Amino acid sequence: MKIELEDNKVFFENHGLKKEIHPFWLRERVNDDDHVDKKTQQRLFDPTNLKDNIKIDNIDLSSKFLEVKFNDGTFTKLEISTILKEFLNTNDVKHISKTQWDSSLKDFNNFKFKKNFFENEEMYKALQSFYKFGFVIFKNVPTDNNYIVDFANSIGSIRRTNFGEFFNVKSKPNPNDLAYTSLPLAPHTDNPYRNPVPCIQMLHCIENEVSGGHSTLVDGFTVTEKLKKSFPDYYKILTEIKVRFQFIDHSVVLEDWAEMIQLDENDNFKQVRFSPRLDFVPLMDKDKLDLYYAARKKISELYNSDEFRIEFKLSPGDLLMMDNHRLLHGRTTYDANEGKRFLQGCYIDYDSTEGKLKHLKRKFNL
Ligand SMILES: [Fe+2]
Repeated sequence: MKIELEDNKVFFENHGLKKEIHPFWLRERVNDDDHVDKKTQQRLFDPTNLKDNIKIDNIDLSSKFLEVKFNDGTFTKLEISTILKEFLNTNDVKHISKTQWDSSLKDFNNFKFKKNFFENEEMYKALQSFYKFGFVIFKNVPTDNNYIVDFANSIGSIRRTNFGEFFNVKSKPNPNDLAYTSLPLAPHTDNPYRNPVPCIQMLHCIENEVSGGHSTLVDGFTVTEKLKKSFPDYYKILTEIKVRFQFIDHSVVLEDWAEMIQLDENDNFKQVRFSPRLDFVPLMDKDKLDLYYAARKKISELYNSDEFRIEFKLSPGDLLMMDNHRLLHGRTTYDANEGKRFLQGCYIDYDSTEGKLKHLKRKFNL
């Protein structure tokens, strides 16, 4: 990958593919003190006010710098490495490749909470691990004064929902969600009826005196890939049909239409939604519905199978952070008479973790 010059034009060459870099693109990146505020890295000029026919009058390329004089009289000296970085997009979390896992996953990457944790290199490693596996467990996180709120806000900002800034998970009378009972919870994703769906869920164990109530996780990415390979027709219909997810209580009606398996612009895995108590398929032709119901049954079997599920007990101080767009979570049943089981939960979004990760990468020059 390199920068080349030809007839007062700048080219970007990568694996034999050569493309001209638009002069306006370079003009927008003029970054001396008159054009960019060094503290915020924000432009001091409005590029929409520049003349349309920006051209290059003079150009010079050395091993480290590209010097350009534009036809509006502006001169700039840009670092080659900075330009190349924009094409490589190395900062993007998409470059952290996802590790598919199933029930054979044994070594979870646990990270011990300590002082100044959020500005520590250890936090960078934890976030990397989160993007690889879709979850991470923090140990010894303080359990007093709803510390989960401070924890979440030290990575980014809490995503408040109608369950509040955070929620307490323990069995309670007249629950408005099955989470607040001692019943087992099959693997599901949270809040599929919300737009946008909260990206990340945190669950912090405050007390756990019962022998059951184990936490379960399933990698929706692994299951999706399995379905794609073994049951392509099922994969196809679940990536195509939008179903209505809904949540209703006395004060709100939340609805959103989405595919159970959502793909990105390149037809790669993006997100799963699964909560078979809350989904409503539209009325379609009988044949299509036959296929849809068979597909939903199959994916439910896979999500619930022992082959893909990991199970573990959270101890007081453990904070589980999981990707709600990728992973499914659940809980085994427990006997509320055995003692207390008290978890606190909240949501944050990807911009928090991505922003923190990029900040720490910059801070430690990683
Ligand atoms: Fe849940």
